Amino acid sequence: MKMRAAVLEQFGQPLAVQEVELAEPRAGEVLVRLVACGVCHTDLYTASGADPSGYAPAVLGHEGAGVVERVGPDVASLAPGDHVVTLFSPQCGECVHCVDPRTNLCLAIREQQNQGFLPDGTTRISREGEDVRHFMGCSTFAEYTVMPEIALAKVNPEAPFEQVCLFACGLSTGLGAAINTAAVEPGSTCVVFGAGMVGLGAVAGCRLQGAERIVCVDLSAERLQLARGQGATDVMQGGEGAVEAILEMTGGFGADYTFEATGSVAVMRQAVEAARMGWGLCTVAGVAGRGETLDVVPRLLITGRRVAGSSFGGVKGREQVPVLVERALAGEIDVEPFLSHRLRLDEVNRGFELMEAQDGIRSVIELG
Ligand SMILES: NC(=O)c1ccc[n+]([C@@H]2O[C@H](COP(=O)([O-])OP(=O)(O)OC[C@H]3O[C@@H](n4cnc5c(N)ncnc54)[C@H](O)[C@@H]3O)[C@@H](O)[C@H]2O)c1
Ligand SMILES: [Zn+2]
Ligand SMILES: [Zn+2]
Repeated sequence: MKMRAAVLEQFGQPLAVQEVELAEPRAGEVLVRLVACGVCHTDLYTASGADPSGYAPAVLGHEGAGVVERVGPDVASLAPGDHVVTLFSPQCGECVHCVDPRTNLCLAIREQQNQGFLPDGTTRISREGEDVRHFMGCSTFAEYTVMPEIALAKVNPEAPFEQVCLFACGLSTGLGAAINTAAVEPGSTCVVFGAGMVGLGAVAGCRLQGAERIVCVDLSAERLQLARGQGATDVMQGGEGAVEAILEMTGGFGADYTFEATGSVAVMRQAVEAARMGWGLCTVAGVAGRGETLDVVPRLLITGRRVAGSSFGGVKGREQVPVLVERALAGEIDVEPFLSHRLRLDEVNRGFELMEAQDGIRSVIELG
């Protein structure tokens, strides 16, 4: 079938929205009609050429939500009409990681996905006979996509598409960092560095876990205001004095849980230093630049601080994304403030511009 899609032709150039060919789903695959898709930093990171593992031509986008149109052979858990969220982090349910509660890093299709192929090592997207590769196993800057069944989470059809698509990446990452990775305990003190989609999700996650005090640190007063709306009890301007200020607020000890959601290794270091002696846990969610390293004085670790990394918030997508969506429907998570701009597919490059200008938290492309 023919469809419109935003193709990365050349690194550093705007995406080109054009007509491409999409082949039918094969065994274990599903054709999804996309309705909404968020624009995320990882799309821009790859489009800019900064990502050393990037490739082109490819259809970008990975924060999608839509409706199952058709299923290929051997697909049992999804049917036409189901509402789904795309998962760049799949859940096969069978690999050694999927059966272990300690991680969400499914191993089933990693290698092919990283190279831009579906699990059988081929692509479904093409134009005039030339293969176009998939991105993060999703390729959701398009009217349709073909994805493996194990990379789609079936969600409550009452949830609006432009809100559920945010659970495909940033929002679940932040929520999960607090709920899964850190497993914040009720009554604790938390500090979240960064008030973008991921940091604000972490603030909401700390609130849902029953944290007593939630301090959010960012450079933008506007974003700190949004953090208050998600449950931050205190907000603070980031920068050089942030660690000292946090120590002062916590009787000199530091916080029970700290979260880093900026992508800056200097801030990651601050997040470790702001964690409490004895048991403070620092959860790192930000993606650092190529070759950058985290500088930590080992004594901080010997005296009981711990550091954990979190990919997609440790969320096992097929099981847990639907639960998070239910919590949003129940009014526990206020998703609306994250949705800043609604764009058409033709305006996808504008989405990148808005992101670079830090204008709003998320731009969502409406495809319906
Ligand atoms: N681990 C994962 O699975 C995963 C998933 C999605 C995104 N990410 C990463 O998480 C990070 C955050 O993503 P986002 O979409 O929220 O980004 P964002 O750019 O919207 O937010 C980052 C925030 O950090 C703030 N910031 C910058 N320097 C700061 C400082 N010195 N002190 C305090 N705050 C500071 C900025 O003002 C901004 O509000 C990025 O690195 C992104 O790549 C990780
Ligand atoms: Zn993303
Ligand atoms: Zn698996």
